[in-house]
Amino acid sequence: MKIQIGITEAHLKNSISILSSILANEMTLYIKVRKFHWNVSGQSFMELHKLFEGQYTQLEVSIDETAERISKLGGKTIGTMKEFSELTIIKESPNQYPAQKEMLKELLEDHETLIVQLRKDVDASADDNKDAGTADFLTGLMQDHETMAWTLRRYLE
Ligand SMILES: [Fe+2]
Repeated sequence: MKIQIGITEAHLKNSISILSSILANEMTLYIKVRKFHWNVSGQSFMELHKLFEGQYTQLEVSIDETAERISKLGGKTIGTMKEFSELTIIKESPNQYPAQKEMLKELLEDHETLIVQLRKDVDASADDNKDAGTADFLTGLMQDHETMAWTLRRYLE
């Protein structure tokens, strides 16, 4: 069924493309945080084990909301590891098991990368695509990442 919500078809397509890339990044980050939750060890094991669990649980909510927003705009939501790995800008680190501090640093950098990307996507959604709903959604997502980044940064300062 045609979506008639005052956004042109071309702009809807752009929004779906932006959201699909964000979804791929959120999935990659989610998997990374889970890996660190499983493999963290050392003095602050339980503290970080729980911190990572809290963050991947939050990411899981964002992932679902992002996926469903694609559907709300009339798009098909990608859902394979292949598609996620093709679209993500966040890099995985196979066979690597960093120490606690490096885990925190790596995740902080990933959040910062995503925040920079989201900031661009918010502007593109509002200015170029005239899609206020997606701009607002991505702004909320960016704020969630800012909070997670702040938490991680506190451990490193
Ligand atoms: Fe667990």
